[in-house]
Amino acid sequence: MAYDLAIVLPTFNESANVAPMIDRLARALAGVRYEVIFVDDDSPDGTADLVRRLERDHPNLRVIHRIGRRGLASATIEGILAAAAPVVAVMDADLQHDESILPEMLRRINGDNLDLVVGSRNIQGGSMGQFAAWRVKLSQLGRRLSLIGAEHQLSDPMSGFFMVRVDSFERFAHRLSAIGFKILLDIVLSAGPELRIGEVPYRFRLREHGESKLDMMVGLEYFELLVDKHLGSLVNLRFILFALVGAFGVGLHLLILSALLRVGNIGFAKAQTLTTFMVMLLNFVLNNTVTYRDRRLRGWRFLRGLVTFCLACGLGVVANVAIANDVFHRGLPWWLAALIGLMFSAVWNFAVTSMTTWRQDRRSSEQRARRRIEAAAKLAAPHGGGEGLPAKSA
Ligand code: GDD
Ligand code: MN
Repeated sequence: MAYDLAIVLPTFNESANVAPMIDRLARALAGVRYEVIFVDDDSPDGTADLVRRLERDHPNLRVIHRIGRRGLASATIEGILAAAAPVVAVMDADLQHDESILPEMLRRINGDNLDLVVGSRNIQGGSMGQFAAWRVKLSQLGRRLSLIGAEHQLSDPMSGFFMVRVDSFERFAHRLSAIGFKILLDIVLSAGPELRIGEVPYRFRLREHGESKLDMMVGLEYFELLVDKHLGSLVNLRFILFALVGAFGVGLHLLILSALLRVGNIGFAKAQTLTTFMVMLLNFVLNNTVTYRDRRLRGWRFLRGLVTFCLACGLGVVANVAIANDVFHRGLPWWLAALIGLMFSAVWNFAVTSMTTWRQDRRSSEQRARRRIEAAAKLAAPHGGGEGLPAKSA
């Protein structure tokens, strides 16, 4: 069967929303030939396993189950590129987006010959609904930032609800940054001026089941997206974060050291050693939670990581001093020599810790998978299919 429309639903821990979502789509899209593609990032609650079970009764259902990856934007891109239909709608899987406007969006994209139709909360007929006041403010702030230097002025660039033609999407897919939550903004900033855009209003609903994944990190990723879009290939974002953490550490080191020395009855060598370890620990924690949040080390891996981090940075210090000393004696001013030494150790520390401390670890993802499968087995019990039921094709 040829599909007219694909619905791409990125999910992370949405098991309670999967079945209601599928029902609502069926009601909204009566008469439309559509497929549904879930893109799940190995949710610990077993969302992907649940969808796989439902696939047996719904031949138009599919799940792309990604392991070792996280990210709403990148999940969405993979879903769109997997579609068989010529037009794809992207929506949240948590029932917050109003599926009843899908037929109107489809009519617009086909009838008005558009590349992109955006579900907007900020035009006549649309609304933020009962969205918390601080989230509305945040959305407005994000919107204002997004408009700087943009070729298209959307009323709701923060929306995660839109429809796009796959052949148009393929034209700019390789230019996407695929960072964070704001895939629509990524598309609009990547596509170029020839993109034909329409808007259809909708009212944003409140989430009933599960939790929002919006947090500080998602906010940080929003800035990363803007930096990447505007400065592009000039910078490596992970290195920038690593260097920022390092620079913060240097400043903090001076502060703590001066405080320790002022309090007195501690010699310089002791104070310097103590401060070095404290700052190294803090830098490790910051890099682990921010720079490498996607490979975050926990439990005993955290301790092992701390050891390799300290060893790598220790060697970095030795090399830093040797190089700075060398260029200093070649006649460079002291501050330039110091900066060159620091730059070298930043690059060294980043390179070495990315290959040791935060290298990709397959074993821990296997352990997560085992927990996930157990969670899914429990979830699936009320649906009649126990673990070990042979998979019948629909
Ligand atoms: N695969 C995958 N990977 N899916 C994810 C991830 C991820 O890392 N993070 C979130 N999702 C899925 C959620 O499961 C949900 O279906 C959808 O993306 C939106 O995530 P929420 O956590 O519900 O986000 P929100 O409600 O705070 O933000 C939404 O509203 C914004 C409008 O204010 C998102 O749709 C944004 O894109 C939208 O702009
Ligand atoms: Mn949501």
